[in-house]
Amino acid sequence: MTAQSLSFLLCGVACLTACSPAPDADQEQARQPQPILTMDHHSHARPDEARITHLDLDVSVDMVAKRITGSARYDIEGTGDRIIFDTDGLRIDSVTLGDGSEAEYVLGDSTFLGRPLTVMLPNGEKRVSIAYSTSAGARALQWLRPEQTADRTHPFLFTQGQAILTRTWIPVQDSPGIRFTYNATVRVPKELMAVMSATNPTKRSADGSYTFKQERAIPAYLIALAVGDLEFAPIGERTGVYAERSVVKKAAWEFADVERMLESAEALYGPYRWGRYDLIVLPPSFPFGGMENPCLTFATPTIIAGDRSLTALVAHELAHSWSGNLVTNATWDDFWLNEGFTVYFEHRICELVYGPERTAMQAVLGIQDLRATMEHLEADGHAADTHLRLDLEGRNPDDGMNEVAYEKGCALLRTLESRVGRPVFDGFLRDYFDTFAFQSMTTDRFVEHLRNKLLDPNKIEFDIAAWIDGPGLPADAVLPESDRFAMVDAELAHWMSGTPAADLKTTDWGTFEWMHFLRHLPKSMTDAQMTQLDAAFHFSDSGNAELLVAWLENCIRNDHDEAYAQLDSFLNRVGRRKYLVPLYTALIDTEKGRLTAQTIYRTARPNYHAVSVRTLDDLLAWKDNKPPATF
Ligand code: BES
Ligand code: ZN
Repeated sequence: MTAQSLSFLLCGVACLTACSPAPDADQEQARQPQPILTMDHHSHARPDEARITHLDLDVSVDMVAKRITGSARYDIEGTGDRIIFDTDGLRIDSVTLGDGSEAEYVLGDSTFLGRPLTVMLPNGEKRVSIAYSTSAGARALQWLRPEQTADRTHPFLFTQGQAILTRTWIPVQDSPGIRFTYNATVRVPKELMAVMSATNPTKRSADGSYTFKQERAIPAYLIALAVGDLEFAPIGERTGVYAERSVVKKAAWEFADVERMLESAEALYGPYRWGRYDLIVLPPSFPFGGMENPCLTFATPTIIAGDRSLTALVAHELAHSWSGNLVTNATWDDFWLNEGFTVYFEHRICELVYGPERTAMQAVLGIQDLRATMEHLEADGHAADTHLRLDLEGRNPDDGMNEVAYEKGCALLRTLESRVGRPVFDGFLRDYFDTFAFQSMTTDRFVEHLRNKLLDPNKIEFDIAAWIDGPGLPADAVLPESDRFAMVDAELAHWMSGTPAADLKTTDWGTFEWMHFLRHLPKSMTDAQMTQLDAAFHFSDSGNAELLVAWLENCIRNDHDEAYAQLDSFLNRVGRRKYLVPLYTALIDTEKGRLTAQTIYRTARPNYHAVSVRTLDDLLAWKDNKPPATF
C-alpha cells in the first residue's frame, strides 16, 4: 500500500527546501511555510477546510470528582465555513464564537475514534470557544489515590496523549499533522502543583492556579499535564527534574548525565529549540518508560536503578525533541519516522556519553527484541505490521505501534549511514531537521527527500521500497555486533557445562551483559539451577527493573515458586506495559500460570492505566471487568 496519505500542498516543495536553518526558534517559526496538510484516518479533522493555530485552555482539576472542567478557545485559519474537532467522551456544555454568540454545532456518532464535533463558522469566523468537562472514562487521564504515589499522602493526576487520547480530555483537532501553540491556566487544589509540556513553575503557587505557555507549534498528542505534590530539583543550566519529595533527590542523581546528553545531541543535529529540558518522574503506574512531552519528558520511576544504568531512556526522549517533536510523523502510519529516527539518534547520543562498546550492546538487545516481535507478528498473521509504513486504517493506532517502527526504523538509518559514511549521513540528518523544523512528515515525502538529498547525489543504488513496504529485515540490513556479548555467551556455555554460577567471570558486567545473560539462559532449568543462579547473582533482589523482569520471566517459565511473591508485588505496583506484557504472557502459557495471572490481574487491574488495561484485557481475554467464563 502506498501513498495512503493524500497531501494538499499549500506551497510547493521548492518553498520548503528554501527555508534555511535558523538559529533563533521564534524567528524560525515565523518563517515556516504553510504546513502540508495530510489526511489522517485517525482524526475527524479536515485541515484543508479549517485548522486550529492556537489554543487557550482554562481548566479546573477536581481531584475528588476526578473531572476536568473548563474551556478551550481556539484561533483558526482556513477558508472553510466549518471546523471539525475530535472529542471522545467529553460533555460539551456550550460552543461560542469570537463575539460570545452561540455557535451552531453538531456532535456526530461515536466510534473508536470518538465523536466529531462540527462547528459552523459564519462570515469567515476565526475564533471558537468550547466549554466542556471530561467523563469518568477519559482514557488520557490516570487519577491516582495517595497509596498509589511514592509519598502516599496526596492524590496524583497525569495525562497521556499519544496516540489518540488527547481528545478524551480536550476537544481538539487530534492529528499529528496539525500543529498549534498553546497557553493554559490550570487550577488545582492548593497543596498540589501542576506542570505541563510548556514553560513550568518550579514552586507551588499560593492559590493553586498555574499558567503555562507553549510558544512552539506542537500537535495535540504532545499536550500534557501532571498534578501532584511535586518538588523541583535543578540538574544543569537548562535541565531539572520534578518528582515527589521522596524521589526527587534520587532522580536528580540518576539523571545527572542529561546535560551532557543535551550537549551531545546539539553537537550532532543542531540547536535544542524548546528552551528548557526537564523530566518528571511519575508514579509507577505510568504505562510507558517515557513520553517525550515537549519541555518536560514524562518518565517511569522504574528507570531509577540507582546506578544510572537505564538512562538511555532519557537520551531517547530527549532525541524526540528533534525526531518527533520538531519533525513529526504526519499520521500514525508514519510512526517509524518518529521512533526509528529517535532510536538511531538515541544510540548516537549514548555513544558520545557512554562509549561505543556499551551502546553496541544496547543496539544488539534492540535487534533481539525486533526479531522476537517479528516472529510473533508473522505467526499471528500480521506480517504487514512488519513493514515500516503501516496501514492502521480502521484500527486503534496503539495496536500497530511496536518494535518494528523503533528497531527496523533504526536499522534502516544505520544501513544508510554505512552506505554513505557517517559524516555525509550526519550532514543529511542535520539538514533534514533544519529543513523540516516544526513540520510534519509523511513516509512518501521522506523517501523523496532521501532520494534527492542522499541517494542520487551520492549515486547509491538502494532498494528503499523493500524497507518501507516490505516485510521483515531486508537482506542488506547492517546490524550491530557486540564483542562483550560473545564473552557473555562463553560464560553461559561454561555454566551450562557444569561450572558453578559463583565461579563465572562476571565481575565487570553491567546491566546490558546481565540482560543478555538472562535472555539466553536455557528455556528449561531445574529448581536447583534457579536457586544456584539467584544465590550467586541476587536477581530477585535487583533494584533494576529490566533485570528483575528478565529474571521473573525465567522463574515463570520454570515454575520457580520462590519468585511468586516478588512477581505478585511487582505486578501490583508497576504499570509499565513493556514489563506487564511479557510477564503475563509467560504466565498464561500454562494452566497453573493462567490461574495465577487471573488472580493477580483481578487486584492489580484497578491500578493500571487505561492503555495497559486495554492491552491486558485483550491478552487475558478479560471482558466487562471479568475473567473469561472458562476460568
Ligand atoms: N513516544 C513513545 C511512547 C509511546 C509510543 C506512547 C506510542 C504512546 C504510543 C516514547 O518515546 C517511547 O518510545 N518510550 C519507550 C522508551 C524508549 C527508550 C524505547 C517506552 O515507553 O518504553
Ligand atoms: Zn520514542
